[in-house]
Amino acid sequence: MKVSPAEQHERLGSTQERARELAQKGAPEGTLVVAREQTGGKGRLGRAWASPTGGLYLSLVLRPDEGMLKRASISLVAALAASEALDATARVSTSLKWPNDIVLHGKKLGGVLADLVREGKDSYLILGVGLNVNTARDAFPAEVRTLATSLAIEKSATFSTDEVLEHFVSHFEGHYDRMTTLGSRVRVKVAGRTIEGKASGLNATGALVVELDDKKREILYAGDVEELRSL
Ligand code: BTN
Repeated sequence: MKVSPAEQHERLGSTQERARELAQKGAPEGTLVVAREQTGGKGRLGRAWASPTGGLYLSLVLRPDEGMLKRASISLVAALAASEALDATARVSTSLKWPNDIVLHGKKLGGVLADLVREGKDSYLILGVGLNVNTARDAFPAEVRTLATSLAIEKSATFSTDEVLEHFVSHFEGHYDRMTTLGSRVRVKVAGRTIEGKASGLNATGALVVELDDKKREILYAGDVEELRSL
């Protein structure tokens, strides 16, 4: 998968809405919409996502096939790529908080929103990422001020949002392409046993869920995986 930047906005209602419009009109996988400020940013669980200037707000059109369509794992991969991008840009050590918050020093630095849309035969996933890069403390709404932070607040310096974006794109492309295991028939050697079945997804801790031929499920935290064939 190759990310292709389609639109860059100084100010937009929501990149999530805009990417969805483009996907509805047939935009291909990898179409990227970026904004420097959002006036109607959307968060998870129907919440608003404060999106003042200084942040990086992006949405990506993805068209995973049914085997890849594991929203939890794609969101997790996006959160991981975002965490790596922030770390590389600002030499920090961010962590992930379930389900897919990016956290630094106990405060939220970013979040990921995955909207799965099914329209007739067409289905796509709009993956949104909001990162507080240079956001000033008083630019956050009062109710999130004690919970949220930005790289600028934590490091007393400003950073290039373009650099964060470049790192995010390259990490995400790499991780997404490596997720081919999901949906495949696999043979896993683990603790002296060999398990065969369909790699049906990852659970929230990142463990591999294998569906056996008798429909029982095995949750695997380690093991050597051999892909047998795509299902
Ligand atoms: C969360 O609630 O933690 C997820 C927030 C995701 C926000 C991003 S910012 C870019 C994209 N556009 C939106 O309106 N929301 C997502």
